[in-house]
Amino acid sequence: MEGLIQMPYDATVKLMLSSLERNLLPDAVVRRLTRLLLGVRLRWGYKASAELQLSQLLQFVHSLKEMPIAVQTEKPKEQHYEVPTSFFRLALGKHLKYSCCYFSDKGSTLEDAEAAMLELYCERSELKDGQTVLDIGCGWGSLVLYIASKYSNCKVTGICNSTTQKAFIEDQCRDRQLQNVEIHVADISKFEMEASFDRIYSIEMFEHMKNYRDLLGKISKWMKQDGRLFVHHFCHKVFPYHFEVPMAFNPSLLTVVGFDSLLQTRVSACFCSGYSRGGLAG
Ligand SMILES: C[S@@+](CC[C@H](N)C(=O)[O-])C[C@H]1O[C@@H](n2cnc3c(N)ncnc32)[C@H](O)[C@@H]1O
Repeated sequence: MEGLIQMPYDATVKLMLSSLERNLLPDAVVRRLTRLLLGVRLRWGYKASAELQLSQLLQFVHSLKEMPIAVQTEKPKEQHYEVPTSFFRLALGKHLKYSCCYFSDKGSTLEDAEAAMLELYCERSELKDGQTVLDIGCGWGSLVLYIASKYSNCKVTGICNSTTQKAFIEDQCRDRQLQNVEIHVADISKFEMEASFDRIYSIEMFEHMKNYRDLLGKISKWMKQDGRLFVHHFCHKVFPYHFEVPMAFNPSLLTVVGFDSLLQTRVSACFCSGYSRGGLAG
């Protein structure tokens, strides 16, 4: 039965996505679908009482402890991180920051907001020139390149999971004559190294992770005695949820929730000029 329903579901998703990519879906339809997805997620996440809400939270926390550091690490690569960089250069701002930005006032441009957020990370982590820095899940190097350019005596190491991201960052270093950057392509859940850092950052990568105890245990070995870890993690203000919510098979719900992982990727990439993603994981 499940297989029978899965086939038309897959075909519908494929059709919708190819229409979206060919710009055949009017904005009004995309907005409607996005609202529908948000509505489903909110109805799923908000529980009828504080006790139920707390119980869901505790179950979630417990389930994370039973899981590996990360699961399905190849899927996001295919969905976003190995999509050609030329696409992201069209959709993102100058810094190619693939995470939330800080719009301090209505007149801020995307470039202003990217820079404001990058600056805020440095300020809040009390970064000093000359320190050793690690950025875990560095994407196309928004923070790595910002720090390496502004703090020329810092040695900046980045970890990303995509060869196209590494190639882009290294090209930028050549163009800007930066010699203080090193990039590793690795799955953080398996990566090991003998090194320690004054400042470790992770910007919107923790959303991809599951077992935070093991992840933080690993990161702690890379921190100097007085080192600091700065994490920017986006989440819902009340309830936690997995990117793809495992739930009892319910075709109507599955259609909408399952679709969100694919649609959200494309929608956020298509409409991300100045976006701030508060609800759905990306
Ligand atoms: C939302 S992006 C944020 C990128 C970057 N920090 C920024 O702010 O522009 C998440 C990043 O996490 C990285 N990532 C996701 N899963 C990972 C994994 N298992 N191992 C290493 N990096 C991972 C991806 O390479 C991706 O660039």
